[in-house]
Amino acid sequence: MNERMSSSAEAEAQTRAAQLWLGASRNALNRLVRCLFAERLLEPDALLRARDGNQAWLPLWQSRRVLHFADLRRAPAGTLQNRGSVEVLDETGARRRIDDPSDLIGQVVPALSIKPASDAVQHLIRDVEDSMRNDVLARRHREHWSSELRGKVAEAGAQGFLAYLEKSLPPHLAAMTLDQWGALEGHPFYPTWKAKPDLSPEDVTALSPEFGARVRVRVAALRKEWTYVERMPHVGSYSEWFSQNFPELWRDWTDGLNERGKSPEDWLPLPVHIWHLDNFVRREFAFEIASGVFDPDGPEVVTLPSMSFRTMLPDEQEPRPFIKLPVAIWMTSEQRTLQAKSIHMGPRLSTLISDILSKERELCDGLEIFTEELGAILHHPITGDEHPGRFLSVVYRNSDALVRNDGLPVTVAALLTASPIDGRPLICELIARSGDESEAGVSAFFRAYVVTVLRPTLAMYLLYGIAFEAHQQNSTIVFDETGHPRKLLIRDFGDGRSFAPLFRKRGHDLKPFTRAGILPTTFDDDIGLVRSFVIDACFVCHLHEVALCLREHYALSGAGLWRILREETEAGFDALRPRMLSDAFWLEERKAFLEKPWPSRSVLRMHLGRYRDYRVEHELPNPMAGAE
Ligand SMILES: Nc1ncnc2c1ncn2[C@@H]1O[C@H](COP(=O)(O)OP(=O)(O)OP(=O)(O)O)[C@@H](O)[C@H]1O
Ligand SMILES: [Mg+2]
Repeated sequence: MNERMSSSAEAEAQTRAAQLWLGASRNALNRLVRCLFAERLLEPDALLRARDGNQAWLPLWQSRRVLHFADLRRAPAGTLQNRGSVEVLDETGARRRIDDPSDLIGQVVPALSIKPASDAVQHLIRDVEDSMRNDVLARRHREHWSSELRGKVAEAGAQGFLAYLEKSLPPHLAAMTLDQWGALEGHPFYPTWKAKPDLSPEDVTALSPEFGARVRVRVAALRKEWTYVERMPHVGSYSEWFSQNFPELWRDWTDGLNERGKSPEDWLPLPVHIWHLDNFVRREFAFEIASGVFDPDGPEVVTLPSMSFRTMLPDEQEPRPFIKLPVAIWMTSEQRTLQAKSIHMGPRLSTLISDILSKERELCDGLEIFTEELGAILHHPITGDEHPGRFLSVVYRNSDALVRNDGLPVTVAALLTASPIDGRPLICELIARSGDESEAGVSAFFRAYVVTVLRPTLAMYLLYGIAFEAHQQNSTIVFDETGHPRKLLIRDFGDGRSFAPLFRKRGHDLKPFTRAGILPTTFDDDIGLVRSFVIDACFVCHLHEVALCLREHYALSGAGLWRILREETEAGFDALRPRMLSDAFWLEERKAFLEKPWPSRSVLRMHLGRYRDYRVEHELPNPMAGAE
C-alpha cells in the first residue's frame, strides 16, 4: 500500500515536472516569436493569414519549409502573441510540431534578416535553455511558497494577499516581499529572460529574489586613498553616513579592524555580495588583498535581494538603505557590474532631481524618487583608473519612500504576477477593491494608472530633459486602501539619460561623466536617445504590458485601453504646453510620442550580435496613432 502510494506520488511529481518543463518551453517559444517579429528579424508582413481565426503561415524560402502558427494573435504595437502550437512543414507536406525553442531557432536562422555573429546562435540556445531551467526551478518553488502564503492569509482572515502583507509586515518588508514576488516573470521581452549562465542551480535558488532569497553581504574594507566617493550634498562623509545608517555594522566593522591590528581611520567599509566575494573577488583581486588595499574580512548583514538581483535591502524590522552591488553574473544583456559612471552619476542625478522637486510642488504630489545618496568605487590613487572598480563598488539608495502611511508601494512587475490566492495578476486584487470590475471599472482604473505614471514622467522629460527608465522593475506605484493609484516612485539613476540644454535653461546643472570607452548618458545635441529611453521603458515595457494584461484578464475587446493611453498622453502634453521652452519642441515631441513609431531596444538582435553594439533599436507601430 505504502509502496503504491509512494510510486503514485512519484508519478505525480514526474507529471508535474514535465508540465513545468513544457510551460517553460512555451514561454521561451512565445518570447522568441514575439522578439523575432517585433525586431523584424523575421518579416511580419511575410506572414500569410487565414481569413478567420488566428492561424498564420510563414514561408521559409531558403529551406523550402513553412512555419505554421495555430494561434498567432496580433496585439497593438505590432507585437505578435503566440498562443498555440507551432509546426514546420517541409516540401513533401510532412508536418512536425516544434516544442523546443532550439528547434525553432534552428529553423529560422537561415531566414533571419541579419547574419548572427559567430557562436551567437549557440549562445542564444544555451541562454534560452538556461532561462527555461531557472523558470522551472522558480515555478516549482512558487507552488510551495503560494500554498504557504494561502495558509497564512486565511489564518489572518485578510481580504487578499496585498491586504495580508500590509497587515502583517512593517511597510518596507511588505514592499520587498512584493518586489521579490514580482521577480518571477522577468523582463517582458528578453528571450533569455532568466538566464544566469554563471550560476549553478543551487546558487540560482539561494540568491535570486523570485525564490524569496536571503543573501549575506560582507562588509569588507577598502583603503581610503584607493576609494573614490561620490555623495549628495547633505551627506557629510562616507564614514559618518555609514555609521549613522548602519550603527551595529559600523561598530562590528571597526572592532574587527582594530582586532586585526588595522586602524579604521585608514579604511572605508565596502559591502560585497557574498557570491561575488567567494567566486570572483578573492581570485581577481588577490593582489589587492595581499598588498593591503582590500581586506575581505568583516561583519555580515543578511539582506533581501530585490528584483534586480543585486540591490539588497537589509532584512531588519527597522528600514535601512538599499545596498546596490556589482555581481560578476550575466543577466539580461549585461554583466551586472557597477561601473564608475553609475557611482558618479547616481548621486548627481539624485541631487538634480531632488532640487527640481523641491521647487515643483505639484510634481511632488505625484512623484518620489529613491535617492542614491552615496557611492564608492575602487580608484587607483596614482593613475586614477576606476575600470577594475566596476567589480568593487557600491551605491546606497535611500529606502524612505517605502515607509509611508498613504498606501502600499507595489513594484510594477508584481502587479502583473499571479496572486498566490487565486492565480490572477495582483493588479486584479487592487481593481477589485473598488467593487467594480466591469469594463467601465477596469477602464477607469487604467486611466488613473496611466495618469499616475505619465504625468511625472512626461513633466521631467519635457520640462527638464530627464528620462526615467520607468520600466516594470524601476517603477513602484503607491495604491491607497481603495486600490486607487496615487503616486509614482522611481529608482535607478546610475544609467539615467538626460538632455542638458533643457535643465540648464531652467537654472540647473549636472556634471556629466565622460570617459573614453564609456557610452555617454548626458546629451547636448540630440534628445533622440533620451526620448527613446522614456518610450521604450515607460510605454513599450510598462504601460503597453499593463494594458495587454488587463485586456486579456478582463476579456476586453477593441482598442479601448489604447485610446485611454492616447487621451491621457494628449492631456499630459496639453497640461505642460504653457510651460514649454518652445512650441516647436512641444509639437515635435508630441508627434514622436503619439504618432511616430515607438523606438525599442532590439534585445534579440543585440544578443545575436554578441553585444558589440548596445544601442540597437527597432521601431514598433505606434498603437496610439490609430486607437479610436
Ligand atoms: N519586469 C522586469 N523588467 C525589467 N527588468 C527586470 C524585470 N524583472 C526582473 N528584471 C531584472 O532587473 C534588472 C533590470 O535592470 P536595470 O539596469 O534596470 O536594474 P539594475 O541597475 O541592475 O538595478 P536597480 O534597478 O536595483 O538599480 C535586470 O537584471 C533584469 O533581469
Ligand atoms: Mg533597475
